[in-house]
Amino acid sequence: MIRISPTDRVFILTGAGISAESGIPTFRGVGGLWRNRRVEEVASAEAWQRDPRMVWDFYSMRRRVATTAKPNPGHEALARLEQSLQDRLFLCTQNVDDLHEQAGSVRVVHMHGELFKSRCDRCDRAPFDDSAAYEPPRPIPRCHCGGKIRPHICWFGEIPYDLDKIATALDDCTVFIAIGTSGLVQPAASFVARVRGAARTIYVGPEEPANTFAFTDCYWGKAGELLPNLFHSA
Ligand code: APR
Repeated sequence: MIRISPTDRVFILTGAGISAESGIPTFRGVGGLWRNRRVEEVASAEAWQRDPRMVWDFYSMRRRVATTAKPNPGHEALARLEQSLQDRLFLCTQNVDDLHEQAGSVRVVHMHGELFKSRCDRCDRAPFDDSAAYEPPRPIPRCHCGGKIRPHICWFGEIPYDLDKIATALDDCTVFIAIGTSGLVQPAASFVARVRGAARTIYVGPEEPANTFAFTDCYWGKAGELLPNLFHSA
């Protein structure tokens, strides 16, 4: 049981594992998205320059899978926690699906972008809602400026979003909880080391993450099974 006092400020980092029970494959586990593809082939600015058609095929497939997915009890437990903690909870996700929002979480920081948004790869037009699949024979969508429309996703080699806001929340938190993330991708994998000593550090997932050394408490199991009864906020 994770006890949260009236003065605790909680930082939660979620990864692909929290959406696994909703049917969205993780990246590195069995059947993971990256296991049969090289990341650089589909999720990098270089891939986009080389073959935008193949990149849109990949993200169109991910949009289709995510469209059929529903939040699981893990997402719902975090939405309830936000209702009780309000602005004492900071929810940062590496996931690009919208299952936290579908479960009722209101303040969600998507540091790796959002699958159901697109943006222009040339002008500074704001990202816009877009759940379309762009597969042949549909052409690559174009912006009125002539640029190509791309997924609003942070690709490898690009800078994640909202890092200033995230840093402030990390330095402010008294409880840091990572859920369903392998601890292999930076900068998210280093968040726990940044807060260690100043905050309780807790991991929730079925197997040891790569940065397991930095966690003081670990709850081994599936997010959808553990999270509903894990929090006790006084
Ligand atoms: N509940 C909780 N955790 C789970 C579950 C589950 N039901 N099933 C699997 N996991 C855990 C795995 O043990 C693993 O540690 O989820 C983690 C998934 O790890 P990854 O597939 O590496 O996903 P993630 O850590 O989110 O990847 C980080 O890498 O590919 C990039 O941008 C992509 O945001 C992603 C980033």
